[in-house]
Amino acid sequence: MPHTAEPPLTTIPADLTSLADYERRAVAHMPEATWRHIASGAGQECTLRQNRLAFERLLLEPRALACLQGATTHTTLLGQRHAAPVLLAPVAYHRLVHPGGECETARAAAAMQTGMVVSTLASQTLEDIARSARAAAAELRHDQAPLWFQLYLQPKRSHSLELVRRAEAAGYQALVVTIDATVKRARFALPPGVEAVNIQSFPSLAQRPQGLAGPILFGTPLVESAPTWEDIAWLRQQCTLPLIVKGVVSPRDAMRAVELGADALIVSNHGGRVLDGLPAAIDILPRVAETVAGRVPLLLDGGIRSGTDIVKALALGASAVLVGRPQLHALAVAGLLGVAHMLHLLRAELELAMAQLGCTRIAVIDRSVLWPPE
Ligand code: FNR
Repeated sequence: MPHTAEPPLTTIPADLTSLADYERRAVAHMPEATWRHIASGAGQECTLRQNRLAFERLLLEPRALACLQGATTHTTLLGQRHAAPVLLAPVAYHRLVHPGGECETARAAAAMQTGMVVSTLASQTLEDIARSARAAAAELRHDQAPLWFQLYLQPKRSHSLELVRRAEAAGYQALVVTIDATVKRARFALPPGVEAVNIQSFPSLAQRPQGLAGPILFGTPLVESAPTWEDIAWLRQQCTLPLIVKGVVSPRDAMRAVELGADALIVSNHGGRVLDGLPAAIDILPRVAETVAGRVPLLLDGGIRSGTDIVKALALGASAVLVGRPQLHALAVAGLLGVAHMLHLLRAELELAMAQLGCTRIAVIDRSVLWPPE
């Protein structure tokens, strides 16, 4: 039944104590169609379910009475310091769930000293988002947390380059190029006032429903101008920032990206939203880690909902993780406050898990924390 979205809360109720609580609450704070768009996965949602089930299958072995003096979640990635190995994944159109949009999220990330990856499909300009992050950090006298820009390669290289140059000029510190959603079905009509403002002036190739006699996918401009590995090689030459390839699900593609000069990879099946039938991201990670063999750091997203999920991902070879949907849930429920609180919960859960597993540093988390021990 359609419902009217409740406005964001201005305080955090005491019963919001986990990311699952935010997810449950978020339903009431956005239109039903928006909720479905965010929650859903591709096809029969087999991959979407796997992303969570795989984490539930992984179990931990505690280590009691370890000395925890000096324990910290800090970590360094690509020369950048992170307060914890958790970033906000690139997620399109934050204004779908909150009028403050990505700027609001960026302020929360800055307050929690958490890295954020801003999507090509952001609903506010990448410059405004960077300014919001910087202003919030300055106001709180925090060091600026890493801010990365996610690029969807555009049909014209000149348009991709324009985005890269804007991101460099605005102070973004890494470029994340997403390779898994270049051919994707548009399933959601944006409400008035929510737009991909950063690429508004570029021609859109969004696939529209054709008549029964028209081309379905092959032969359409979407496919004819879809990017290839040559574009990644080209991008590597153009871009002075660290280049991170997102959407790696096969060891073969991982090696190709590394050979082309990627500085890091994000193992991701796009939160189960692109090709149904892919394994869970966390199930893919060990194979990619084995193939890449430490040449570049690996990040992971897809199904991260708690501190123990983070530990499991680190144990299997990730240097850091990203969270996608939870940031929209928290933004819808309580705006800046919600996103900051959600990140706080994740950090607190990570610290608790590390303490119970006897881990005082991110770098010492390895397979020995998993049950059964190897
Ligand atoms: C995404 N994701 C995504 N990825 C990307 O590279 N660019 C984008 O613009 C978007 N947009 C987007 C919108 C929505 C609504 C969702 C749910 C996801 C994918 C995202 O970065 C990430 O890979 C997944 O969301 C991770 O899975 P979880 O944390 O949502 O389970």
